[in-house]
Amino acid sequence: MKVLIVGSGGREHAIAASVAKSKKVDKIYCAPGNAGIGQIAECVPIGAMEFDKITAFAKEKAIDLTIVGMDDPLVGGLIDELESAGLRAFGPRKNAAVLEGSKAFSKDLMKKYHIPTAAYETFDDPKKALAYLETAVMPVVLKADGLALGKGVLICNTLEEAKDGVKTIMEDKKFGAAGSRMVIEEFMTGREVSVLSFVDGKTIRIMTSAQDHKRAGDGDTGLNTGGMGTFSPSPFYTEEVDAFCRKYIYQATVDAMASEERPFQGIIFFGLMLTDKGPRVLEYNARFGDPEAQVVLPRMKNDIIDVIEACIDGTLDQITLQFEENAAVCVVLASEGYPVSYEKGFPIGGLEKFEGKDGYYCFHAGTKEDGQQIVTNGGRVLGVTATGRDLHEARENAYQAAEWVTFENKYMRHDIGKAIDEV
Ligand code: AMP
Ligand code: GLY
Repeated sequence: MKVLIVGSGGREHAIAASVAKSKKVDKIYCAPGNAGIGQIAECVPIGAMEFDKITAFAKEKAIDLTIVGMDDPLVGGLIDELESAGLRAFGPRKNAAVLEGSKAFSKDLMKKYHIPTAAYETFDDPKKALAYLETAVMPVVLKADGLALGKGVLICNTLEEAKDGVKTIMEDKKFGAAGSRMVIEEFMTGREVSVLSFVDGKTIRIMTSAQDHKRAGDGDTGLNTGGMGTFSPSPFYTEEVDAFCRKYIYQATVDAMASEERPFQGIIFFGLMLTDKGPRVLEYNARFGDPEAQVVLPRMKNDIIDVIEACIDGTLDQITLQFEENAAVCVVLASEGYPVSYEKGFPIGGLEKFEGKDGYYCFHAGTKEDGQQIVTNGGRVLGVTATGRDLHEARENAYQAAEWVTFENKYMRHDIGKAIDEV
């Protein structure tokens, strides 16, 4: 079977690596891909938002399955386009991807179906938002409604900051059109956990848990990023937490989407906060996490194509997901200056050290080929993942492997997985 993957990050490299292990697959294409993906797939220079070109390419090559990894094309309706051309595609349709595409939609859904989340109000008018803040308890969390590359969330400690935030989002439109509407939310405290799941419209199958590190600097300081590293499983995702989420969150979300006539087929990523009142949904994403996929997928024992086909065919109830009894840690190697400004184009050394080493992975994110070399081409450059018998061993292995790679301006956090020492 021929598979096309849409996207170009570490997540898509991890998806491609899983797809490459499937016995059913003889050829993988990726649009647009990156230098690492290019080692296991044929990369084609088509952007993830070029829907006509993607559809035409999939028809021309008689692609059997297209997997869309990124949020923008999902929210924009790429799955609908592929399906209307008679092609098989994995990911939510536009009317279901809104679960990630609109914070106001997802908050209203949770409220209507009693899914535990932070209290909130939605605003279309900045004056009403400012008036509401006068009586709100600080800190508050401001969220631009639409996709904003994970950056449309502001945590404000004082009324002044919150007022400035409303201006930034709704008047200055710092996050673009995403800020025409906003959600103001109660601030919660607790540990964050990411839980990914496969969904076929009715049935949900939960993958192993993971934890991201969103801030740029050690000790959770600095700006929010796409994610600087992950570990899996999360020791804080206990059986008790799992039981609560199964009872009140996971199936409830899938049923709510079905009731709204927006059946969800694809990946639901539950961003959870473990508060002292129990788990609460922080956000939903309609795709694999990046870099969560880089620690979850290497631990999955199932053939990913079997699971994806079951999601498309509505037969996920016949699948049992299985994960290795080990642990994985991913350390992101970024360009110094990420997420604000950074230089690109530096040659990367040491990549060959990963060849033939079981349990070590070097997932490419911002890389490209330049003649005979592979050079840096983005803020997040590589995700170095290693497995181990437990989280401590996995972390040791991942940090050792992170040293194998060299490039100018290489930056990483040194405390990925530090939280496991508290267990
Ligand atoms: P989101 O894009 O909604 O996941 O928000 C990005 C990050 O902001 C989350 O990973 C949390 O760290 C933080 N955050 C979002 N909502 C809240 C909240 N209600 N209370 C506290 N922190 C939050
Ligand atoms: N790592 C968080 C995300 O993919 O949104």
